[in-house]
Amino acid sequence: MATTIKTYQTTFSIGGDLEINRMGYGAMRITGKGIWGPPNDKDEAIRVLKRAVELGVNFIDTADSYGPYVSEELIAEALYPYPADLVIGTKGGLTRTGPDQWPIDASPEHLKEALEGSLKRLKLARINLYQLHRIDPNVPAEKTFEFLQKAQQDGKIKHIGLSEVNVDDIKNAQQYFEVVSVQNMYSVDNRKWEPVLDYCKEHNIAFIPWFPLNAGNVAAQEKLKTIADKHNATVHQVALSWLLNHADNILLIPGTSSVEHLEENMKTTSVELTEQDMEALNSISPA
Ligand SMILES: NC(=O)c1ccc[n+]([C@@H]2O[C@H](COP(=O)([O-])OP(=O)(O)OC[C@H]3O[C@@H](n4cnc5c(N)ncnc54)[C@H](OP(=O)(O)O)[C@@H]3O)[C@@H](O)[C@H]2O)c1
Repeated sequence: MATTIKTYQTTFSIGGDLEINRMGYGAMRITGKGIWGPPNDKDEAIRVLKRAVELGVNFIDTADSYGPYVSEELIAEALYPYPADLVIGTKGGLTRTGPDQWPIDASPEHLKEALEGSLKRLKLARINLYQLHRIDPNVPAEKTFEFLQKAQQDGKIKHIGLSEVNVDDIKNAQQYFEVVSVQNMYSVDNRKWEPVLDYCKEHNIAFIPWFPLNAGNVAAQEKLKTIADKHNATVHQVALSWLLNHADNILLIPGTSSVEHLEENMKTTSVELTEQDMEALNSISPA
């Protein structure tokens, strides 16, 4: 069988007007343990953010709840005034009560405070992409969606995204506003949300996998290792390359607290997977 190198689009247009590099950066790991408090090495966190932009990242994912507040504050400290093309996607809808604890609150009252806080910390007059971190089982979804719709009408949010949702949730939200992105847990070894990815692809909605490296656990996958060795690449690069090749609406936000890992991840675009590699990787069993 002939070897065919796969090709893919390197950019994606969020909401049809924010053209970004599909290799972005997830800023959850620049906080303390349990995504709580300041990072162990603040200087390195600042270097990671600056280096990401130098390497071509123009989409950074964050949330008010990372730290809480720490990630947004560090982004502003490292990068403000921002490059004109930088898109910061933040989120609201979770609160923090301690390390690794994330109670949901998507009430309009909480979201109002959360949005105002993010605008202030990020030093922005408008958030380019505001993502609802979770639909709140204790708040009627229409109340949450009406809040987001109004914030968009008021000019505080340009585009709206959702996180950890199914297709019915997306359809429901679409009655209130245009859904431009969906951020669900997904990676080569965790494809539970494939139907959501398909729906997003069909509707030109960005699909942003969280845990694209399965929180670092992709390293345990033997098939990745075999293909990585063949390409003189690392397992992390092959896991990310699979995502880039799998669908053009997938945006990558691998998280890291180290410049070394960031540089390794950004070199993913020089890995050239073949159709045969993709087929082999498609059959990876869930972790
Ligand atoms: N919407 C949601 O509910 C939600 C939930 C979780 C995360 N997120 C977003 O998704 C982003 C990505 O998820 P994530 O950061 O949790 O997980 P991830 O990207 O799957 O993996 C990050 C982990 O892998 C390690 N890592 C990264 N690159 C590596 C490399 N080249 N070699 C070895 N280890 C490497 C990191 O450790 P080092 O720091 O040592 O590099 C970190 O522990 C987050 O940053 C956040 O923005 C969203």
